[in-house]
Amino acid sequence: MPSLNFNLSSVFYLIPIYFLIVAPLLRQFFPSDPGLSAPGDIRDAAYYAPEEDGEEDTSLQLNAEVLSLDDGETVVCELGSDTYRTHIFSYNPLVVYIEGFLSASEADHLVNVSLPNYHPSPLYSSQNKTSDTTKRLSDRSLLPRDSVVRCIESRARAFQGWKPHLYIERMWAQRYNVSGHYTHHYDWVGTARDRGGDRLSTFMVYLKADCKGGGTNFPRMRRPRDNRWCEFLDCEQQEGREGVTFKPIKGNAVFWENLRADGSGYPESWHAAFPVEEGEKVGLNIWSWYQPPRGRW
Ligand SMILES: *[C@@H]1O[C@H](CO)[C@@H](O)[C@H](O)[C@H]1NC(C)=O
Ligand SMILES: *[C@@H]1O[C@H](CO)[C@@H](O)[C@H](O)[C@H]1NC(C)=O
Ligand SMILES: *[C@@H]1O[C@H](CO)[C@@H](O)[C@H](O)[C@H]1NC(C)=O
Repeated sequence: MPSLNFNLSSVFYLIPIYFLIVAPLLRQFFPSDPGLSAPGDIRDAAYYAPEEDGEEDTSLQLNAEVLSLDDGETVVCELGSDTYRTHIFSYNPLVVYIEGFLSASEADHLVNVSLPNYHPSPLYSSQNKTSDTTKRLSDRSLLPRDSVVRCIESRARAFQGWKPHLYIERMWAQRYNVSGHYTHHYDWVGTARDRGGDRLSTFMVYLKADCKGGGTNFPRMRRPRDNRWCEFLDCEQQEGREGVTFKPIKGNAVFWENLRADGSGYPESWHAAFPVEEGEKVGLNIWSWYQPPRGRW
């Protein structure tokens, strides 16, 4: 019995010694990796270091016709081109409104280079590329990867914290004439688990907004209370239209995440391009394809 008492009391002395002296010293010499000790979902790939020592999954099929892959070209951006302002619209899903994501001259340039390449925008059903102008009526144009486009690719990656395994898709301009529209749809495809990748996020950028109508509508989102949002949102929305509608404003963008950390899609990301009533709208889609090595979702 006496020996047990002795052991217990020495333990009581050791506890404060550990917390006051030993632990701070350990922290000093072995700073912990914030990613690994963070509570919660450790699958958040932002915390994973990029693959080293040849562990890259060779089953990844990255298609350069669809993705803006690194081809060794250096990106040179105009001085002072990253001057946008952000407003968090929603946390879950993450939706961020971005004022001045593109400068006026960047937006004009993209419209200019898009002009020679327009073709009717397709619709994708489960497997087929089809067309149904009651669902989608617009023309689209694949943008060449010139220095302005590359600078915007790099801005879009930087905005998302240079997340590993995230690839900016080749960018398309979408042109909507009067009555041009796209009915409600998702940008994600639901292929995270079977094919390993899916479209993690979307920037809807307005390149040209000389129009009436043509707002981007999210019927499952709610308008924030503060009236300052009415600068960007249609606060006098027509009867019968639900949710939130972002007004097309040249150079501005709506950014949203399509997928949860487990790869499933957010129902709130269901959205539409409302019909243009007068004039012309040109939008820019910047989609981010996320394809981690197998088993990382
Ligand atoms: C776009 O093209 C027009 C006409 O060709 C030209 O006047 C204008 O300077 C161009 N703008 C940009 C930003 O390239
Ligand atoms: C896709 O197209 C093929 C041939 O045109 C047709 O047989 C098939 O039914 C279509 N599938 C879907 C899902 O529309
Ligand atoms: C939109 O207008 C342009 C120029 O007038 C025209 O070439 C194009 O075919 C129109 N597209 C649609 C979908 O109406």
